[in-house]
Amino acid sequence: MNVREFKFTGTDVAADISEKYGYDGPLLPIYAGHEGAVVHKWHHYIPLYDRYLSRFCGQPVRFLEIGVFRGGSLEMWREFLGPEAVLFGIDIDPDCAKFDGNAGQVRIGSQDDPAFLNRVIDEMGGIDVVLDDGSHRMEHIRASLDTLFPRLSLGGIYVIEDLHTAYFRNYGGTWREDGYRGKHNFLRGLTGMIDDMHHWYHDLPEQVPALGGALSGIHIHDSFVVLEKNVAHRPVHSRVGAP
Ligand SMILES: C[S@@+](CC[C@H](N)C(=O)[O-])C[C@H]1O[C@@H](n2cnc3c(N)ncnc32)[C@H](O)[C@@H]1O
Repeated sequence: MNVREFKFTGTDVAADISEKYGYDGPLLPIYAGHEGAVVHKWHHYIPLYDRYLSRFCGQPVRFLEIGVFRGGSLEMWREFLGPEAVLFGIDIDPDCAKFDGNAGQVRIGSQDDPAFLNRVIDEMGGIDVVLDDGSHRMEHIRASLDTLFPRLSLGGIYVIEDLHTAYFRNYGGTWREDGYRGKHNFLRGLTGMIDDMHHWYHDLPEQVPALGGALSGIHIHDSFVVLEKNVAHRPVHSRVGAP
C-alpha cells in the first residue's frame, strides 16, 4: 500500500471537498484557491480543521505547526487564523529557514528534541495549538507530545495528522514484533489515554504522564486525532425536573 494510490485525480479540489464532506466554510476557498507555496493536505482534513480551529480565528492564538515543508501551510494558516495569530513552524530541514518571517516564524530543529521544543515555546510565550505534520514516525509523534502537551494552555488542542502511518512499517507503526496491536503504534496507544481520562473509575496505573490529568477529550477521525486539554473536573451527576 502506498499513499500515492490516494492522490486526487480530479481537477476541482473545492467541489470534491464540498460534495463529499458537505463543507462550504471559509477554509475551502483558502485551501482550494491557494496560489502561494505548495500546501499538501488530505481533503477530509479541511472541514476538520474548520471544526476544531475556527474558534481561534481572529485571536492571538499561539499556533505551532510541526513540518514546514515548502512553507505553504503556514501561508494557509495565516490567511485562516488572521494577523493576530502567533504562528510558528518547525522543521528539521535547514532549507526551511528561508521561509522564516514570511507567513510566520520558522525554527530549525527536530520534533523529538525537548530542549529545542521548549526554546521555541518559550519564544512563542506559550502555546494554544499544536499541529503535528512532521515526520509522522511513531516515536517522534510521542516524543513531541510528551514535551508539548504539558506546555499546552488549558483550552488548547493538540492535533496529529497523517496517522495512517501507524500502519506503515517504515514509520515505526508495525515493524516491532507486536505489530499493529503494539504499544508503539500511536493509534493503539490512544487506549492508554482513554484509560487515563477515565481514571476516576478504575485503579489502573497512569499510562501517559504527559497528559497530567488534563486530557478533556479525544477525537479520532481517519488519520487525524485531536486531543483537548482542559481542567478535568471530578465528574458529578444529578437529577433535575419533576420526579
Ligand atoms: C508532510 S511535510 C509538512 C507539510 C506541510 N505542513 C504542509 O501542509 O504542506 C513534513 C515535514 O516534516 C519535516 N520533518 C521530518 N522529520 C522531522 C523532525 N524530526 N522534526 C521536524 N520536522 C521534521 C520534513 O522535513 C517535512 O518538511
